[in-house]
Amino acid sequence: MIQPVYLDYNGTTPHDPEVIEAMRPFLETEFGNPSSSHWYGIKPKQAVEAARRQVAGLLGCAPQEVVFTSGGTESNNHAIKGMARALKVKGRHIVTSAFEHPAVLEVCRALEGEGFETTRVAVDGLGMVDPRAVEAAIRPDTILISIMHANNEVGTVQPIGEIAALAKARGIVMHTDAAQSLGKIPADVNALGVDLLSVAGHKLYAPKGIGALYVRHGFQPERFCHGAGQERGWRAGTENVLEIVGLGKACEIAGRDPAAGAAHLRAMRDRLHQGIVAQVADVRLNGHPDRRLPNTLSLAFRDLTANRLLEEIGLEIAASAGAACHADTVSLSHVLEAMAVPVAWAKGTLRFSTGRFTSAQEIDRAVAVVVRAVENLRRK
Ligand SMILES: Cc1ncc(COP(=O)(O)O)c(C=O)c1O
Repeated sequence: MIQPVYLDYNGTTPHDPEVIEAMRPFLETEFGNPSSSHWYGIKPKQAVEAARRQVAGLLGCAPQEVVFTSGGTESNNHAIKGMARALKVKGRHIVTSAFEHPAVLEVCRALEGEGFETTRVAVDGLGMVDPRAVEAAIRPDTILISIMHANNEVGTVQPIGEIAALAKARGIVMHTDAAQSLGKIPADVNALGVDLLSVAGHKLYAPKGIGALYVRHGFQPERFCHGAGQERGWRAGTENVLEIVGLGKACEIAGRDPAAGAAHLRAMRDRLHQGIVAQVADVRLNGHPDRRLPNTLSLAFRDLTANRLLEEIGLEIAASAGAACHADTVSLSHVLEAMAVPVAWAKGTLRFSTGRFTSAQEIDRAVAVVVRAVENLRRK
C-alpha cells in the first residue's frame, strides 16, 4: 500500500534517523539514573548535560539556562504560571494575543481564576500582532508578555524583537512560544531579546513528550514540579534521558545548515502552492505572504468545507483542517477567526506543512490529488 504523502509536519515530525541512533543506547543498554553516584549513572548524566549544551547551542544561550520539560505545553505552563506567580506582588496583568496556541490561551484563562487579568491583543488579517497594540495594552501592573514566535496554523512570524524591546524598557518579562519556529527559522534568544522561550521536541524530529524551556539567567519562575530537585529544583523528577538525548541531537542537526534546511522547506511549500493555484480557481493564502514559516501553507478553498476536502484526499495526503463542520454548523479555528477570514473562505481551509523529508515527487503527487479533489467537490 502506498502511504499518504505526509504534509502535516506542523502537527508532528517523524524521528530523524540520526535522532533514533543517538537514542538507541539509552533504550538498549544505558538505563542508569543520571542522579546515581555509581558507574551506571555516569553516561546518562553526561548525555543529559551534552544534550543541554546542544539545545543551548541552537538557542544561543548558556546550558544552565535550559530546563528540560515534557514538551511545548508544559514549557508554556511553566513559563507563564511560573513567572506570573513569582511576580504577583508586583502586578497581576498579562498581555498575550488572541492568536496563541491553547497551551498559552488556556494557561492565561486558568490564571484568571487565581486573580490575574489577561489582555488578548488582536491580530490583523495576515495574522500579525502590531507592537503598538501590545504597547497600548501595557498597564502599570503588567508583569508578563507572552506572544508566540510563529503561528502553527498559518505560519505568520511575529515581530518578537520589537515587542521584547518594549517589554524590556518597562521591566516586563517577555516569553515566546517557539514550538513551531525552532528549527525552521532562527530563534536565538538574544537576537529575539526574550526572557523565556518554549521548545517542543516533536516539531523538530525528536520524539513526542520532550521539550525545553529557556529561562534567562536571573529570572526565577516559581518551581513547577516539587520533588527531588532535578533540573536545579525547577522541574523535579528523574530525567527522561532517552528523549532528552533525542532532543539534543535534533537541535544539533537543526543547527548544522539552517539556511539550506529552510530553503528546502520553502521550495517544497512553494511548489505545492504554485501547483495548486495554477490549476484551481478561488483559492487563497491565509497568513502573511512573506513573514511566514518557510514550510507552512494554509489555503482557503472558497465555498468548500475542510472536512469534505480531507475526506476526499485523506487516503493520499495527510494534512489538517482549519475548520470543523458538524451538520449545519461550522466551527472555525480561533486563529482564522482572530484574523477575521470570511466564513466562505475559512470553512474550506486546509493546512499543509512540509518538512525535511518532503520530496518534489511527493509534492507533485499531492498537487494532482488536491486539484482532482477540488474539481470533484465543485462539480457536485
Ligand atoms: C505553537 C504551539 N505551541 C505549543 C504546542 C504544544 O506543544 P506539545 O505538543 O509539545 O505540548 C504546539 C503543538 O501543536 C504548538 O504548535
